[in-house]
Amino acid sequence: MSDLENLLDYRIAVDKTQEQYSPANNQRFVKISEREDRSDLTMSLCKIFWEKTFLQTWNDVFIDKGFFELSLFPMLVKELQPQTIIELGALNGGSAVWFADLLEIFKIKGSVYSVDVDLSLLDDKAKADSRIHWIEGDCHQISQVLPPDLLKTLPHPWLVLEDCHVNTIGICEYFHNNGLQSGDYLIVEDTNKLVPQYWGARWKDSPELDRIERKIDDLREWLKDREDEYLVDTHYLDMYGYNVSKNWNSVFKRV
Ligand SMILES: C[S@@+](CC[C@H](N)C(=O)[O-])C[C@H]1O[C@@H](n2cnc3c(N)ncnc32)[C@H](O)[C@@H]1O
Repeated sequence: MSDLENLLDYRIAVDKTQEQYSPANNQRFVKISEREDRSDLTMSLCKIFWEKTFLQTWNDVFIDKGFFELSLFPMLVKELQPQTIIELGALNGGSAVWFADLLEIFKIKGSVYSVDVDLSLLDDKAKADSRIHWIEGDCHQISQVLPPDLLKTLPHPWLVLEDCHVNTIGICEYFHNNGLQSGDYLIVEDTNKLVPQYWGARWKDSPELDRIERKIDDLREWLKDREDEYLVDTHYLDMYGYNVSKNWNSVFKRV
């Protein structure tokens, strides 16, 4: 094959794949009961991927996302065009800055709210980023951190990310009752049980890892009577294989 023929073949393969897996052609949105809690990722792969995860930065600030999410979330942001992004768990601020940059890149006039119980963890560069509404507060008291009166003022669609690993079900319930509308996205991060297994080998007896371990089970329980309202978006979960990211079945669209 000549280079030109190769290129044409490649282009045809791209078109075919995009047609075959087009979100419109697929049964993209499914109930959680139709999904298995497993992943094509294996522990041996995670050991390779996560070994140097603390070296990962966005614009020089540590960002605690897996590289699958780093690829998938920008596509979701572009598609959803969120007017409000609410992130629970800011850490050094890398992911909030990344979301603010994504909004800017895609020319979306949205706002980013990022919450942490301890904003002293913020990197100076992130702290100086005036595009982000930094909120210090305890997500155990989520109604005080993001009161209903504030939520009422925030334009939709929303992208809400729980990445603080506390009060997960309380947080889901709160947003369910205070603003999540049809079309909004709710992402509960780190539901992949390989996450606590991997870090558990380093940090024994960690209550946070115990909570992470239970996340997907708690979520399934919470969704028992709501599985028609929050559909799992397989497009952003299975692009690289079944549940290949740190999230198992926990990218939801409210319908
Ligand atoms: C996994 S990190 C967030 C990572 C960040 N979103 C990123 O992608 O770079 C979890 C954060 O949750 C915060 N956190 C823990 N307990 C919290 C609580 N009760 N309320 C609010 N934030 C909390 C921690 O301080 C920590 O910074």
